[in-house]
Amino acid sequence: MRKTVLMTLMASLLGFFCGCSNSSPVTLNRKPEGRILIVCYSESANQNTMTAATWIQEQVGGDLCAVKMVTPYSDSYSKVLKEAKHHLDNGIKPEILPLEKKVGDYDIVFVGSPVWYGTFAPPLGTFFGQNDLSGKTVIPFCTHGGGGSGHLFEDVAKAAPKSKVLPGLALKGSNVVERTIGRGTASKASPDEVIEWLNEILE
Ligand SMILES: Cc1cc2nc3c(=O)[nH]c(=O)nc-3n(C[C@H](O)[C@H](O)[C@H](O)COP(=O)(O)O)c2cc1C
Repeated sequence: MRKTVLMTLMASLLGFFCGCSNSSPVTLNRKPEGRILIVCYSESANQNTMTAATWIQEQVGGDLCAVKMVTPYSDSYSKVLKEAKHHLDNGIKPEILPLEKKVGDYDIVFVGSPVWYGTFAPPLGTFFGQNDLSGKTVIPFCTHGGGGSGHLFEDVAKAAPKSKVLPGLALKGSNVVERTIGRGTASKASPDEVIEWLNEILE
């Protein structure tokens, strides 16, 4: 008897210090109805936005499709900053490779982008120009470097004026990828934020 009480006490203390004993797992309330496509442009080597896209797919299923440029941006970060600014300032829609999926086959289209100068990346401008999203539900998501979503969600709504655009998700990019903290401890932010967001926006 004393042994059982002692073990229960130790388990409670361990749970208390880990902060994990009372945390209930976050689960998706319900999957959206309809055929789902997740379209995503992700540029950096970390692939932050693509990682967020896979978290969404893990929850809602559907098909995931990367937007890729015919001539990708430079490898150098400082050059990408200049090239992207040039495209955005001049309304240039860079050529993209044909999508692997037909947007017309889907009812719900998640659209993901890194935040670039407060908006979505130019290759997605090309995507919006080439695909008719009328009558579809469009759900934007983005990753950023700490500045938040800027006017990206408003810009998605403007680019898809005949769609039902749901409230978007903005994740800080460095919280999305696996990263090293201190002396080699790997840490990855939890996809719970994605689930909580989906539970809020999906009726
Ligand atoms: C051209 C360029 C512009 C950027 N502009 C912003 C910005 O306005 N606000 C911000 O918070 N982060 C900005 N960032 C950082 C990216 O949004 C962030 O690193 C993102 O998670 C990268 O996603 P990816 O790995 O999918 O490419 C910018 C990065 C680049 C390359």
